[in-house]
Amino acid sequence: MTGKSSGYDKRLWGGRFESGPTADVIAFSTSIGIDWRLWLADIDGSIAHAKMLGKQSIIAPDEATAIVNGLSDIRAEIQAELEAGQNPFPADAEDIHSALELRLKAKIGTVAGKLHTARSRNDQVATAFRLTLMREGKALIDEVTALLRGLVAKAEPETETILPGLTHFQHAQPVSLAHHLLAYFWMFERDRERLQQWLIRTSVLPLGSAALAGTSFPLDREFVAKELGFTRPSENSLDAVSDRDFALEFVSDLSLIALHLSRISEELVIWSAPEHGFVELADQVTTGSSIMPQKKNPDVAELIRGRTGRAIGALMQLATMMKGLPLAYNRDLQEDKEPVFYALDSVRGSVRLMGFMLEGAKFNRARMAETIAGDFSNATDLADDLAAKGVPFREAHEISGEVVKHCLKHGRQLESLTANELQALHPLLDSETVAKLKPLAVLNARNTQGGTSPAAVKKQLALAHQRIL
Ligand code: ARG
Repeated sequence: MTGKSSGYDKRLWGGRFESGPTADVIAFSTSIGIDWRLWLADIDGSIAHAKMLGKQSIIAPDEATAIVNGLSDIRAEIQAELEAGQNPFPADAEDIHSALELRLKAKIGTVAGKLHTARSRNDQVATAFRLTLMREGKALIDEVTALLRGLVAKAEPETETILPGLTHFQHAQPVSLAHHLLAYFWMFERDRERLQQWLIRTSVLPLGSAALAGTSFPLDREFVAKELGFTRPSENSLDAVSDRDFALEFVSDLSLIALHLSRISEELVIWSAPEHGFVELADQVTTGSSIMPQKKNPDVAELIRGRTGRAIGALMQLATMMKGLPLAYNRDLQEDKEPVFYALDSVRGSVRLMGFMLEGAKFNRARMAETIAGDFSNATDLADDLAAKGVPFREAHEISGEVVKHCLKHGRQLESLTANELQALHPLLDSETVAKLKPLAVLNARNTQGGTSPAAVKKQLALAHQRIL
């Protein structure tokens, strides 16, 4: 600590202070390095607020016009500066809100000071953060939709591609590759639905709550809400300025996306290992080894899997920050943005890369079929055959188990037993049973709604198509 009192030379407060905060305190408290990302929403919020102040004659109409025009110009300037690769945000500003107001003052003079009438940074930041996340959330919904489309496209030709379905990571019953891929479709579809529902809840405008208690000025909050695309103004000013449920929920939704991405990544890692050989990932998403020339490593899948902790960590960080905060605004709340943006950037990148990785993935149908042969994943079908012929299922299960034992003892595959051989093991087993034990028959048999039969999966694909129209 230097102990030296330097002060914010451009702070928006200070009248009651003898001296300013020390350089260390300023460095400790500034948030511009993170909250610059609110710049566009903050300007849009200020424009809507200024229009309303003019309309309500809280400030003169020409003052409102000067502010609105000044802010519009600044918006265009910043856009251009960003596009040119410049940093439009002064590093010594307290936060993005101060930086923008000071820039407005430099542009239009002291009338800029009227913008903050009937407003506090507390309702301002809550509004800018919500609006930013609503916009980012919509963009993310589009990215998830693209991933959903990719999954459907990949699943479509694979309704008769058979691979082992697993429980306890042991071969259980065969499933189709289309069915397996579509399992992820529904996970990501729920994620998308969650984001859409989150958008509805988030679309509540804090602006007009002022510092915590509302304001003495005759605001038109409905007007501001409409201007900014919010559904309605908030009902309680104390809640509005201190609520961050929208951020928590957003990061929670991001965590679920990350978790689902991690699961499919894990499968791609396993499937691309030579023991499986179910998939070959494209060169663009794999890397080699600096020592072992033969290696083709699934780094992108591993990184997506490894980054799950970012979103979940951000959720813990944010929840811990919120816990125990008394009403209303507390400076702790400034800590809300970093974890959210960190999780968002990570998940968005992962969603994109997963789509790209799936697009280039080549599935090896023959290899999948090979692993089914003789794996006894049709033993349930032998039991089902007996049960359909009237044998109580528990008894049928026992008999089927004995047939499996017989095969293991004699080095046979269940599906290679002849009708005569089967009959010798149990009189109700016959040529019908033989037919039912073939891989495609096993698949076709599971024709329940939501089951893995090609016919059922085609219906599932039709439902999936409806969701991504
Ligand atoms: N940068 C602050 C934040 O993100 C803005 C609000 C500051 N308000 C205050 N009363 N100090 O929370």
